[in-house]
Amino acid sequence: TYMSGFGNEFSSEDPRCPGALPEGQNNPQVCPYGLYAEQLSGSAFTCPRASNKRSWLYRILPSVRHKPFQALEQKHLTHNWDEVEPDPNQLRWKPFHIPKAEEKKVDFVEGLHTVCGAGDVRSRNGIAIHIYTCNTSMTDRCFYSSDGDFLIAPQKGNLLIVTEFGKILVEPNEICVIQQGMRFSVEVFGETRGYILEVFGVHFELPDLGPIGANGLANPRDFLTPVAWYEERTVPGGYSVISKYQGKLFVSVQDFSPFNVVAWHGNYAPYKYNLENFMVINSVAFDHADPSIFTVLTAKSLRPGVAIADFVIFPPRWGVANKTFRPPYYHRNCMSEFMGLIKGHYEAKEGGFQPGGGSLHSAMTPHGPDAECFEKASAAKLEPERVAAGTMAFMFESSLSMAVTRWGIETCSRLDKEYYRCWESLRSHFRPGQKTVTM
Ligand SMILES: [Fe+2]
Repeated sequence: TYMSGFGNEFSSEDPRCPGALPEGQNNPQVCPYGLYAEQLSGSAFTCPRASNKRSWLYRILPSVRHKPFQALEQKHLTHNWDEVEPDPNQLRWKPFHIPKAEEKKVDFVEGLHTVCGAGDVRSRNGIAIHIYTCNTSMTDRCFYSSDGDFLIAPQKGNLLIVTEFGKILVEPNEICVIQQGMRFSVEVFGETRGYILEVFGVHFELPDLGPIGANGLANPRDFLTPVAWYEERTVPGGYSVISKYQGKLFVSVQDFSPFNVVAWHGNYAPYKYNLENFMVINSVAFDHADPSIFTVLTAKSLRPGVAIADFVIFPPRWGVANKTFRPPYYHRNCMSEFMGLIKGHYEAKEGGFQPGGGSLHSAMTPHGPDAECFEKASAAKLEPERVAAGTMAFMFESSLSMAVTRWGIETCSRLDKEYYRCWESLRSHFRPGQKTVTM
């Protein structure tokens, strides 16, 4: 069960405890059912009303009852952007390996790998892109990021995410956003893989629509937030609460489940979104709209119109543009573009770029359709056609110039060293004295 809307003031009570939310105030002397009141702040207290985010959680025990945090080793999660020398080349990764459960049980937290990123968690300005690959559910362990918001895009395998706010089931082709500080535990159902965009210091928003009007792209009502659900469970062996703090992991142990929130209200809560609900807008005459027309969510920087990161998708749609080279144009961008593929074949590169893999086209590094795609699309008869049927490619686009980690360059062993070759056979069609060229 979910509540619909983006950034709403929600309120929810577990049906086992009707009236658990205090009436008319947040902090009664004694809360209904003897619960503790705890505020989770997602913005400075003093933020303008439109960007002020907080929720009140009414829980069996407050989060503060825990043993001290201790460092927890996790080799592949990093915000050290100087591990390897900068590399401006086009990078493409084959599908990232998922560990086999028979060989090694790996849960969501153990399976986090940072591929690239930029900026700083301490000054609260930056992003990190992680890949998760796992095969086992988290047991008596939960996780939260003190550093930023996680936008999770599953590519293989469903995730049942138990959060302090309730349960979210996320399937490939859906995404969910779990914001800074929210505790969650991930159940998986076999081999599991996906992508994470983490943003520090800002939250995801719906993009402004300008002349598009009041409706379109991702509509607010299609965002779903879970309803309150609690368990009262003591864990004598210890429940591990794992915090990602300043780029490192720390664990603290407590003897009860943190999913003990009986009721909550507020506008700071996790949500999910089905990418199929995206209302695609595109050119119906000629030429391309820029890919920003496909923006689902944006994390704005302080510079007007410039995002720390945009989440952009390339969903199935109709291509109808006349007298137009329809695949994406050749491009050099001041932004950095990390792409992933949930399913199907990406329209600008039929092979090579596979579901569960990725690519990075860094600031001002040229990219565009491969030679085969160019030849085919230049000669194609322009009829209305389904573009990207059965696929879902996406882009994390950032104004930051991202560094790749050692895991991304070396350890994962998935970098496609031959990627540049897909453009090598692009040949000149220039015919001096012949203005009209037929391909
Ligand atoms: Fe581009």
